[in-house]
Amino acid sequence: MQKVNFDKIEVNQDWAFDNVRSTEQWTHGYHRYPAKFLPNVVKKIIEDYAPDCEVIADLFAGCGTTLVEAKIHGKVSVGTDINPVAQMITKVKTTPLAPEQLQDAYDSLIENFDRFVEEDFATIQKHERIDYWFESKHKAQIAFLYKTVADMETNEKIKAFFYVCISHILKNCSRWLQSSTKPQIDPVKKIPDPFDEFIRHCQKMIKSNNEFYTKLSEEGHLNTPCNIFLEDARHTSIPSESVDMIITSPPYVTSYEYADIHQLTGYWMEYITDIHEFRKQFIGTSYSGNKSLEVNGSTQAQEIVDALAQGGKHIAQDVAQYFNDMCDVAKEMHRILKSGGYACIVIGNTKIKEVQVRSAEVFYEFLQDTGLSEVSVIKRSIPYKLMPTLRDKTTGKFTKLDNPNCNKVYPNEYIIIMQKNKDK
Ligand SMILES: C[S@@+](CC[C@H](N)C(=O)[O-])C[C@H]1O[C@@H](n2cnc3c(N)ncnc32)[C@H](O)[C@@H]1O
Repeated sequence: MQKVNFDKIEVNQDWAFDNVRSTEQWTHGYHRYPAKFLPNVVKKIIEDYAPDCEVIADLFAGCGTTLVEAKIHGKVSVGTDINPVAQMITKVKTTPLAPEQLQDAYDSLIENFDRFVEEDFATIQKHERIDYWFESKHKAQIAFLYKTVADMETNEKIKAFFYVCISHILKNCSRWLQSSTKPQIDPVKKIPDPFDEFIRHCQKMIKSNNEFYTKLSEEGHLNTPCNIFLEDARHTSIPSESVDMIITSPPYVTSYEYADIHQLTGYWMEYITDIHEFRKQFIGTSYSGNKSLEVNGSTQAQEIVDALAQGGKHIAQDVAQYFNDMCDVAKEMHRILKSGGYACIVIGNTKIKEVQVRSAEVFYEFLQDTGLSEVSVIKRSIPYKLMPTLRDKTTGKFTKLDNPNCNKVYPNEYIIIMQKNKDK
């Protein structure tokens, strides 16, 4: 088979959405999440390619952008993600709450803030990393917030809404360098008051919930089913041939360490016990522990791994593992799609240590090998600020503009649209 190459595809301006701010619409702005979808892209995929479809899936659901858009469009949806923080956020973002009930719960929650006594929470034992990230007064306030929500006499959906609000403010209220996704202390950070942050963000979330609720109720979509499972994208419990359209964006290789990025919520909510084991479950991690340099089923992928191996084995082994994992994900996508169903993958290429890592072309080949056929491959430019664009030339890790030893990565990304052949 001839090697696929997307270099010659022209950037399609219809998919740029440069001046459209959809990231704060509906519940999309509840929680930060690295490399999240631009909601406009998901919306346009649904409207252009499957306006009449019934079931939409996202195997790397992240903070649930696909599932929120599916709900707005009245489509049944199902998502999987290996990250419990992603599951928590997605559940809340896809659960519209009755505005009056939510407002009452909020009013009674914040009444409690006057009763906070720091000493009552000063000795609370959590994880040692919590003591590392938080100043003791703020730690006490956050522990109080969690306890007050847990003790509320309200339903679990409303409590989950407040937990997501707390989760979102953890980074702001910790010593974590605000401008960095990587865990890094900011020694001069002026840390805001957690109660003020909670009130500010919660009010914003309540406004968004009310708009989401009203829209869904006007369209008759309030009860459209939506499920998010804490599962591995390589082997999900989604039934075979049950999905009309997959809209997903896989993790980028050795870029974001989701386990580390979400550690604040992970430790507070007790999702993480052993961070080393937790990291290994993520596709694209640089902690895969894989020792093999062999890639199954793609000569293009094997060439990339071989080229990387010349500069050092460790990163080449991680990339080999990434490609093998993505091959399994392609098979899983084929399994769950109905005959005639679509797989829409948003994916970018990158450069590590001067080697072009053509993840988009490799994944395209994997999908084709499962029996999917190309409908379209769209190239779009990535909007400013949504994605880090610089990697250190030596380490391959993301870096900043002031690093003279850096490469630009992800200036563009591809939307690969494939269809499951009707006779396969
Ligand atoms: C690029 S993000 C997806 C972001 C999503 N499109 C959104 O809008 O939020 C990739 C996701 O893949 C998830 N992931 C990594 N390894 C996984 C695995 N083995 N199974 C399922 N999800 C995984 C990460 O937790 C992360 O949420």
